[in-house]
Amino acid sequence: MFDRRPKIAPSILSADFAAFGAECEAVEAQGADWVHVDVMDGHFVPNITFGPQTVKAIRPHIETVMDVHLMIAPVDPYIAAFAEAGADVLTAHAEAGPHLDRTLQAIRAAGCKAGVALNPATPAEAIAYVMDRIDLVCVMTVNPGFGGQSFIDACVPKVARLREMIGDRPIHIEIDGGVTPQTAPRLTAAGADVLVAGSAVFKGGSVAQPGAYGANIRAIREAATAAARSDAA
Ligand code: DX5
Ligand code: ZN
Repeated sequence: MFDRRPKIAPSILSADFAAFGAECEAVEAQGADWVHVDVMDGHFVPNITFGPQTVKAIRPHIETVMDVHLMIAPVDPYIAAFAEAGADVLTAHAEAGPHLDRTLQAIRAAGCKAGVALNPATPAEAIAYVMDRIDLVCVMTVNPGFGGQSFIDACVPKVARLREMIGDRPIHIEIDGGVTPQTAPRLTAAGADVLVAGSAVFKGGSVAQPGAYGANIRAIREAATAAARSDAA
């Protein structure tokens, strides 16, 4: 089940907010491997998206993996609600609270795969003592809060460091922010396997004209796969 082949996870932050269900179905039909769902609270990050009720409404429209990225603080009081909403992967930020180990235990106890997201300034070592509690580490390559920002190059060595730390453990390395066919090769070469992309997937397309989504996903996948490490089987 676990594999390190490059996977593309469109972020619905760049979708039509009045048509999430149809947008999720459209990107999956066009080749998305996972669907990335960004929850923002206007407190941990300077933007607000939606909460567990919206995530629950989206759930039946996703057949692959619903990857829920919580950019909220505090996190713990909301874990049960997002798990009940149907998240497959539930990712919390390392910076969102003082008790990351407890948060990760709560996510797994609620029946979800557990992820940790690291802001650009947070070192790889933030996961050193929670490796047995996580299924995914999300390397933020922009400061969270908005789609369409410029990729922060300084985060690429962090990906390589995490890949080294993870070794054979079944932990996905996800990248979030500024992923394009241009930035993807450096990321998979460094060991990333899940590439979140918002603007680079949704640009030029719509539910009515989803072909652009497919072309955009293929362009990222081809660039990512050509550069992937030889152990990305
Ligand atoms: C940013 C979000 C991302 C966002 C990425 O805070 O977590 O998932 O949608 O958008 P792009 O791919 O446009 O940088
Ligand atoms: Zn995200």
